[in-house]
Amino acid sequence: MTISPAVISSRPSGFFAKAHSAFGVLLLLELCAQFYFIAAAVIPIAAPLTIAVTPDPSINTWKSTYDTFSALHGVNGTLLISATILVLILLSFAARHPWKTTLLTALLFFLVVLQFALALIGFQHSELAPIVGLHGLNALLLVALALRLTWQR
Ligand code: HEM
Repeated sequence: MTISPAVISSRPSGFFAKAHSAFGVLLLLELCAQFYFIAAAVIPIAAPLTIAVTPDPSINTWKSTYDTFSALHGVNGTLLISATILVLILLSFAARHPWKTTLLTALLFFLVVLQFALALIGFQHSELAPIVGLHGLNALLLVALALRLTWQR
């Protein structure tokens, strides 16, 4: 009995397809880093805020920790993640992946732009906190879509 090659593997092979998979994994690592950076930035500030009524002299330590990790979150989110997704779009064309893959990767880029916009709204309008909170949910969408794209390929 012979098994059809299509049953054994329907995944595209070749340099660009492999590079696409590698960049998909890189994107997932960068997205995980976003969760890590923001937790490291916010938890040391948020936890004491719920118990300290008077300003604590160690606020300067919190501030510098926050500045460092939120800056890492900002650079990773605006530069590294966006650049990785743009490379993924190019690799998707080069590997001749189906249009659906390329469109879903473009959607990933759109979600990052939305993520940035939600953060900017938060910087300027504290009264819009319920909308700004969508930054957290959109992050989950980004991870889910990146997982789907990487898993598929
Ligand atoms: C995983 C995907 C994520 C991406 C791509 C992302 C991206 C961004 C970007 C581009 C900014 C604006 C940075 C700046 O202009 O300085 C930002 C800010 C911020 N994000 Fe995210 N983010 C993600 C996940 C999260 C999560 C899960 C949280 C928390 C629930 C979060 C909380 C924040 C906060 C608090 C800021 C403001 C930081 C500051 O003070 O500069 N982000 N994010």
